[in-house]
Amino acid sequence: MKAILAIAVLASGAGGGLLAIFQERLPPAPPQPIKFSHKVHAGDAAIGCTSCHAYAERGPVAGIPSMARCRGCHKFVKKDVDSPAMTAELEALLGKLDQDQPIEWVRVHRVPDHVFFTHKRHVRSGVACRECHGEVEKMEVMRQVAPLSMGWCLECHKRKQAERPAERARLTECLTCHK
Ligand code: HEC
Ligand code: HEC
Ligand code: HEC
Ligand code: HEC
Ligand code: HEC
Repeated sequence: MKAILAIAVLASGAGGGLLAIFQERLPPAPPQPIKFSHKVHAGDAAIGCTSCHAYAERGPVAGIPSMARCRGCHKFVKKDVDSPAMTAELEALLGKLDQDQPIEWVRVHRVPDHVFFTHKRHVRSGVACRECHGEVEKMEVMRQVAPLSMGWCLECHKRKQAERPAERARLTECLTCHK
């Protein structure tokens, strides 16, 4: 089934109908140990993505911020005078931060081990986070919005290759993504 879908997408250049099929098949957002809202942080507070995911521009993985990073802000951001609900969430967070134990975030995106993926090459060549992760700044709960399938990777690689064919010949070679 997967293979058939991938081929169909390659042939059609990912039409809207097929994208809808993929979206129905996306995994639901996993529950997280602490409510963490990208809407509050990346949206309302406008904190930049790489200020928390510091390795996205320099390495294969984007990285998840440490407790120290949360504490750095939340020793100052402790309550919200306008919102008792927000203050309650912040108090719960400070309780966890005081225990000094790492938060076991549940991983949302993952490609299989036989696939090589690196953030650095994408981010440095100007592919925006939203092209692969969607409108994160509006998400109360983090979820996957792209299928992360071979057909999906190749659809974009073919498009980008067409812009600079000689330089980007590698983008469609098997060994680029399968080492
Ligand atoms: C204040 C810190 C902070 C900011 C700013 C932030 N994030 Fe995150 N991000 C987190 C934390 C903590 C998690 C893990 C919890 C979760 O999945 O919700 C996470 C998870 C993610 C994940 C899922 C990781 C996985 O497990 O697959 C993606 C994708 C992501 N962030 C993208 C972004 C993008 C894009 C932006 C900017 C629009 C952004 N983040 C801004 C802290 C942040
Ligand atoms: C750069 C500063 C900054 C960092 C870093 C940061 N936060 Fe926040 N956080 C804020 C601001 C600002 C608010 C909104 C407070 C308000 O609106 O009153 C907030 C609100 C919250 C809330 C309450 C709102 C809600 O979603 O219910 C939680 C919980 C929270 N942050 C968790 C975290 C965690 C966990 C981390 C570390 C992964 C983190 N924050 C890192 C600035 C930060
Ligand atoms: C070309 C598509 C693409 C772009 C652009 C992209 N990501 Fe990702 N992201 C992925 C894929 C695919 C995975 C799963 C990787 C894996 O399993 O190794 C992932 C995983 C993640 C994760 C969880 C694992 C990790 O690497 O720490 C975070 C956090 C994340 N992305 C944040 C970001 C942020 C922030 C940006 C922008 C600065 C960004 N991503 C840009 C495709 C992308
Ligand atoms: C939205 C477009 C887009 C998507 C989706 C995408 N890529 Fe890419 N990819 C690019 C661009 C652009 C480059 C960089 C080309 C350059 O540096 O000239 C790139 C480069 C790469 C490279 C480095 C190539 C080299 O020359 O060594 C790898 C590996 C890679 N991508 C793997 C993946 C995988 C695996 C997926 C799917 C999980 C994926 N990409 C999804 C656009 C994309
Ligand atoms: C741009 C990156 C990319 C390129 C280039 C690429 N693949 Fe893949 N491939 C993937 C990803 C991502 C997956 C895992 C997701 C999936 O199964 O759809 C995958 C999965 C596979 C699988 C396992 C299928 C399964 O159902 O588990 C095979 C076999 C495979 N690729 C062969 C190839 C061959 C042969 C080529 C060259 C003609 C190739 N790939 C080129 C990204 C790529």
